Amino acid sequence: MTVTLVVAIAEDGVIGREGGLPWRLSTDMKRFKALTTGHPIVMGRKTWESFPKPGPLPGRTNIVVTRDRSWQAEGAQVAHSLEAALEIAAAAPGGEDICVIGGGEVYGQAIGRADRLAVTHVEARVDGDTRFPAIDPAVWHAVAEERVPAGERDEYPTRFVLYERSKGPAAAKS
Ligand SMILES: NC(=O)c1ccc[n+]([C@@H]2O[C@H](COP(=O)([O-])OP(=O)(O)OC[C@H]3O[C@@H](n4cnc5c(N)ncnc54)[C@H](OP(=O)(O)O)[C@@H]3O)[C@@H](O)[C@H]2O)c1
Repeated sequence: MTVTLVVAIAEDGVIGREGGLPWRLSTDMKRFKALTTGHPIVMGRKTWESFPKPGPLPGRTNIVVTRDRSWQAEGAQVAHSLEAALEIAAAAPGGEDICVIGGGEVYGQAIGRADRLAVTHVEARVDGDTRFPAIDPAVWHAVAEERVPAGERDEYPTRFVLYERSKGPAAAKS
């Protein structure tokens, strides 16, 4: 079972603003869909609530972590810890590769046990209030990279990089 964090990050690690995404990147939305469809997706309750269209993302088991024991939503499987979320995900269709899709609080907890980071580097400086943790070069190395010029429905150019966890004690999972 592998755990992949799927994220779009602007300069300074910015990933979100006021509960939403601080950009419009249609090409990246398509990439996100292609990467995650058929796999369980694990997210924080705030990310679930940030979806422009309420409800689960189709074709994926949607697992939402919350500390609120009474929280529920149609189409969401609820977990009360990251560990519990990953257990549900591992048993779901496509659970051999689990995608963690944010947001900042959940990425911060999940990066220590992730195997891969599927990162869209947004080539822009944008204001934001939510950040991704630093990608430590002693832990992560790029195995694939693709430059994506801004298309008609993209605000910024991007650079997609797939990182894998390096071997050796410095890169061991925490
Ligand atoms: N750029 C990207 O790729 C990307 C991706 C996803 C999200 N985002 C952005 O990130 C922002 C949201 O991120 P965020 O950091 O504010 O929130 P978040 O990580 O989406 O959700 C945080 C919530 O998750 C629950 N939670 C977190 N850790 C938990 C644990 N160990 N056990 C149980 N529940 C736990 C808590 O829910 P309760 O409060 O209900 O207890 C917490 O308030 C938005 O702006 C969104 O647009 C960006």
